[in-house]
Amino acid sequence: DKPELAATPPMGWMTWNYFADKINEKDIKEMADAMVSSGMVKAGYNYLMIDDGWQGGRDNRNQIIADPLKFPSGVKSLADYVHEKGIKLGIYSDAAQLTCAGYTASLNFEEQDAKTFASWGIDYLKYDYCDAPADSATAVVRYKKMADALRNSGREIALGICEWGNRKPWLWAKNAGGQLWRTTADVRDKWAALKPWKDPNDLHSIGAGIMDIVDVNADLAQYAGPGGWNDFDMLVIGLNGKKGPSGDLGGKGCSETEYQSQMSLWSIMTAPLVATNDLRIMSEATKRILLNEDVIAINQDALGKQAERKINKGNWNVFVKPLKNGDYAIAILNRGASAESLSLNWKDLGLDGSYKINDLWLHKAVGNGKKWSGRVLSHETKLFRLSSTDK
Ligand code: GLA
Repeated sequence: DKPELAATPPMGWMTWNYFADKINEKDIKEMADAMVSSGMVKAGYNYLMIDDGWQGGRDNRNQIIADPLKFPSGVKSLADYVHEKGIKLGIYSDAAQLTCAGYTASLNFEEQDAKTFASWGIDYLKYDYCDAPADSATAVVRYKKMADALRNSGREIALGICEWGNRKPWLWAKNAGGQLWRTTADVRDKWAALKPWKDPNDLHSIGAGIMDIVDVNADLAQYAGPGGWNDFDMLVIGLNGKKGPSGDLGGKGCSETEYQSQMSLWSIMTAPLVATNDLRIMSEATKRILLNEDVIAINQDALGKQAERKINKGNWNVFVKPLKNGDYAIAILNRGASAESLSLNWKDLGLDGSYKINDLWLHKAVGNGKKWSGRVLSHETKLFRLSSTDK
């Protein structure tokens, strides 16, 4: 039996937030090399996703082509290069005439483009929705059209739906044939939006930070599961506020504690784990966060349950995720501006009995029994794995 596509949240690296459309085959090959040498591939980050800006229009048979200046050897040769390293290749298009950055897109060429992608050896398509009508019905039709085209392409290609959550894709995207669906505006390299917002649509102009994306997705746990995931957008870990070739997408950077929180929260909430930092120059701090295998194991747990936010009170957020072997993952987040102490009874989270507490960042047991008390730094997230000690 073939395993289900995206049985666990996809993991990888994507070009956008570091390079924007300033991409080329040399940098991408170097990033593939770095994915292997840094240990990213071994840790499970096995997709390299080319985002917007690779396109060079259509040829005289209407075949979509890569920009020959950016990709002189072509996408097929790049796919061969990354496949050789055990990496899958993703590409990007849009369900309209033009993409978000104004490049050639796939509307009315769905079947032809899907076949082209398959012939190149593409394994994943991020399918955007800029330049397209606002209503949901059209979005469903256009996404289904591409999903069907991919299914008939002769190659297994996962579909990432990217319409920013505007049409509640968690309600229809899986049926339309998507394995993941973005639920928010683009993530920025920052902790939280400066201005308060009520409607997630406001985040397009304000710019979404880590906390804003957590808040939108906290209500969507029931929609995630094997084969269909809420997509929280990229991990901004390691961008460190530095502008890559992308220029300024917004966001002045986060502290190491905040980046570690993003990793904890994306993991426990079963978000796809897609880095976008320059893997060729990763600091030890960034590696420690991105490559924590115990944390990744929470994200990739076979049960595939997105954590529920059981406490959302004052500065405290507490998330609980049941795991396949009967353990629980618990995340305790202090959103406040200073360190605070907390005493938490597991039964307040609905967990009866006694548990051994493993701290997945300290890599050691930090308690035993029916509760935990301790201090949590400003913007820190404790991530625990609880194993029952009752027989
Ligand atoms: C949209 C998406 C981004 C990126 C850009 C590319 O904004 O949400 O993730 O793909 O388009 O233009």
